[in-house]
Amino acid sequence: MLPLDSAPLRPALAPGSWPLVGHLFRFGRDPLRFLGSLPAHGDLVEIRLAVQNVHVLCHPDLARRALADGRTFDRTGPIYDRIRTDMGNGLATCAHTDHRRQRLLMQPAFRRDRLSRYAAVMQEEIAALADRWRPGQVVDVVDAMFALTTSIAVRTLFSSRVDESTAAGLRHCLDVFLRGSYTRVLLPFTTALPTPANRRFTRALAQWRAYVGGVVADGRQRQSGPPDLLSSLLEARDDEQSGMSERELADQIAVLVLAGAETTSAALAWSWHLLGAHPTAEEELLAEAGAVLGGAVATWQDLPRLVHTDRVVREALRLYPPAWALPRTVTRATELAGRTLPAGSTVLFSPYILHRRAGTYPEPDRFRPERWRPDPVSGRCPVPATDFFPFGAGATKCIGESFALTEASLALASLASRWRLRPVPGASVQPAARSVLCPRTLPMRVTGRH
Ligand code: HEM
Repeated sequence: MLPLDSAPLRPALAPGSWPLVGHLFRFGRDPLRFLGSLPAHGDLVEIRLAVQNVHVLCHPDLARRALADGRTFDRTGPIYDRIRTDMGNGLATCAHTDHRRQRLLMQPAFRRDRLSRYAAVMQEEIAALADRWRPGQVVDVVDAMFALTTSIAVRTLFSSRVDESTAAGLRHCLDVFLRGSYTRVLLPFTTALPTPANRRFTRALAQWRAYVGGVVADGRQRQSGPPDLLSSLLEARDDEQSGMSERELADQIAVLVLAGAETTSAALAWSWHLLGAHPTAEEELLAEAGAVLGGAVATWQDLPRLVHTDRVVREALRLYPPAWALPRTVTRATELAGRTLPAGSTVLFSPYILHRRAGTYPEPDRFRPERWRPDPVSGRCPVPATDFFPFGAGATKCIGESFALTEASLALASLASRWRLRPVPGASVQPAARSVLCPRTLPMRVTGRH
């Protein structure tokens, strides 16, 4: 549990720094425990990761300030250079100078009317998964949710433009890519070494680019077919009525799948894990799914009635925010918590820390979906929206927030209307804090509802 709010905001240096390596080993060994220990020392806490000093934003006011000022706290510097080299220069990775134009181009693809169409694709993929499960089967929920969300990402992006083997190939590249990218960011000096992992990574990246390039070229030629995210991107025009170049389109697609698929699958995996450990919340979810869906797959129209499902997803996102740590580079000298940070400094925004503050969330370490229930008198949610950061904040706030919440609620409620997932006795569930915060593995037994 993290401490109560205290004013004025205090800067501090994290204790336990070793010569040369600083806090690198402590961070590398157990980043969540290490980050979770920092607010006890101050509101802006400096940590040393070998040659890199990082200022961790441990107070929500500092996080809001940094996220609202993308010009001063930008997605530039060596970390983002590396991410852009690997992932491409898409909306989720671009710097401030390019951001507004890219956001305007992408926004229409995420409009509400488009979302209801994507929900139909989600429904089909969820139904296929629910049909595949068998009573008594043990599934790794991390793998199952990842396969589901990548299939949904690929199909909403490309409609029927990819066949099953291409979709499987894309999913495989994504997997290798996501597993490798965190190490490459944390230990950039290892990226040039001819290790098997680096070779796999480079191969997967090249394959991914080839797949995406092919689908984009095909999309340009085929102007007919069902509307999908790719057709929205092909139609997109900025202020000067320019569309996207071939390279830009490929980068946007790569970044969209990367930003959207593993985050949503992690949110779902954590939701199942938390439900498995909290029978009362699980009973409530099963009751809601049964009453609203009665064994059917949820549709876009069902969403307003899936209120407990929505609270479970939010509470899982609070306790285990998939985007658990996002760095920013200071572009001009600025003052934060009474300390002057020179240009080039790195700050780290971590929703994981901010979501476990006792001042904001009573009993912060407990899974309590009911904390999201609106107050019966005022009708307002007791948790201020500005203290909930799983999707970031400011101009770069997640463009896929509604997409993700729709997908997670549809999947959770639909699967729960057919199946129960029970924890496998003796299996220990450990968080893996890589690019995305996800359980390492999550074996669960599929049983019938009754
Ligand atoms: C539970 C699921 C998700 C979580 C937790 C999540 C989290 C985030 C966060 C924290 C950011 C802010 C990054 C920053 O400020 O640097 C972000 C941005 C973004 N996300 Fe998501 N995301 C999720 C799902 C999705 C989905 C489904 C999509 C697309 C289909 C998506 C696409 C993006 C894009 C394109 C950005 C960049 C926005 C910008 O810079 O303007 N995300 N996401």
